[in-house]
Amino acid sequence: MLGACVFVALLVITTAEKVAKFKLNDGRDMPALALGTYLGFNQNGVIKSENKQLRDAVLNAIDLGYRHFDTASIYDTEEEIGEAIKMKIDSGDVKRSDIFLTTKLWNTRHRRDQVLPALKDSLTKLGMDYVDLYLMHWPIGLNEDYSHSDVDFMETWRGLEDAMKQGLTKAIGVSNFNEEQLKRMLEEATVKPAALQIEIHPQIVQKDLVDFAQENGIVVMAYSPFGSLVSRFGMQMPGPKMDDPVLTEIANKYKKTTLQVVLRWLVDRKIVPIAKSLHAKRQAENINIFDFSLSEDEIRKINEFDSHTRFTLPSFWQTHPYYPFDKIDTPIADPFVKSNM
Ligand SMILES: NC(=O)c1ccc[n+]([C@@H]2O[C@H](COP(=O)([O-])OP(=O)(O)OC[C@H]3O[C@@H](n4cnc5c(N)ncnc54)[C@H](OP(=O)(O)O)[C@@H]3O)[C@@H](O)[C@H]2O)c1
Repeated sequence: MLGACVFVALLVITTAEKVAKFKLNDGRDMPALALGTYLGFNQNGVIKSENKQLRDAVLNAIDLGYRHFDTASIYDTEEEIGEAIKMKIDSGDVKRSDIFLTTKLWNTRHRRDQVLPALKDSLTKLGMDYVDLYLMHWPIGLNEDYSHSDVDFMETWRGLEDAMKQGLTKAIGVSNFNEEQLKRMLEEATVKPAALQIEIHPQIVQKDLVDFAQENGIVVMAYSPFGSLVSRFGMQMPGPKMDDPVLTEIANKYKKTTLQVVLRWLVDRKIVPIAKSLHAKRQAENINIFDFSLSEDEIRKINEFDSHTRFTLPSFWQTHPYYPFDKIDTPIADPFVKSNM
């Protein structure tokens, strides 16, 4: 029995060590795969974890070697993630310094004086003294009632810089910024962003923005990495599926699944995929990508799926001056405004 435990422990350590790491602009390492923790949205608002399913998923992920967790104050998942990490620290399986924890500032707390209290609220929920990365979730500031506020995202950034100076976060970055916004930030920021989190999958390759960020020493993180290959909150999206012939041919060559090929396509582009799964078997599949790599030609073939298709498209904010994406003709109603739910 003891022998089996030692074997399992060794297996876990080996897997965690196998996960590649990318250097941030402060010299610290970010594990090149994160577990996503957003459970989705329905007519009642953000979907909550039931029966500690998320806590258990994080416990399992740590056993499998995941060390990077992505959350946000708006996901309402910080408590269970923190609970799982603390359980694993208490049992001696990991140290806090082994874990890379990312959370995000929500849009309704964009004034400089709101940022520190917002991060402190997140830390209280997580039960942690610091996070490893604090991201501005969107460049878009909103008032409490979700009407548009005119807070400049550079004012918000000063608040993130304050939080970093106080040691509440080791690094700061942004999410859902476009190239023009990132350029401005690089020109005006005292602390340069360490990371940019954006939607990337075969149907939205984001080559120019990724190149621009990486040329400026910013690590790129990819959300919704599986794109149309998986069903999204119960819906099938148009686009390549798991049995796509191009992806299947590459997967067969490496004896991997097409989902693993897509994650590896990101890692080979030096991008950190954020893959969400609550299921042990799928988590194991998603982390098993660090023993092969794709050729330039295979990367190019996957890039050819690009159709600039976004699954996160909050067109209800498109009249905001800092809306980062192209506008569409018929924006949807804002699901955050209670009267629209
Ligand atoms: N910054 C932002 O604005 C932003 C926006 C969206 C998302 N994010 C972050 O990025 C994370 C990932 O994005 P996402 O949740 O949209 O999408 P995703 O990771 O591309 O896909 C998640 C879906 O794929 C399923 N799945 C995962 N692994 C699978 C496998 N091996 N086989 C079959 N199905 C599998 C999951 O189901 P099960 O859980 O049932 O396994 C889930 O339904 C989020 O959780 C969040 O942390 C950030």
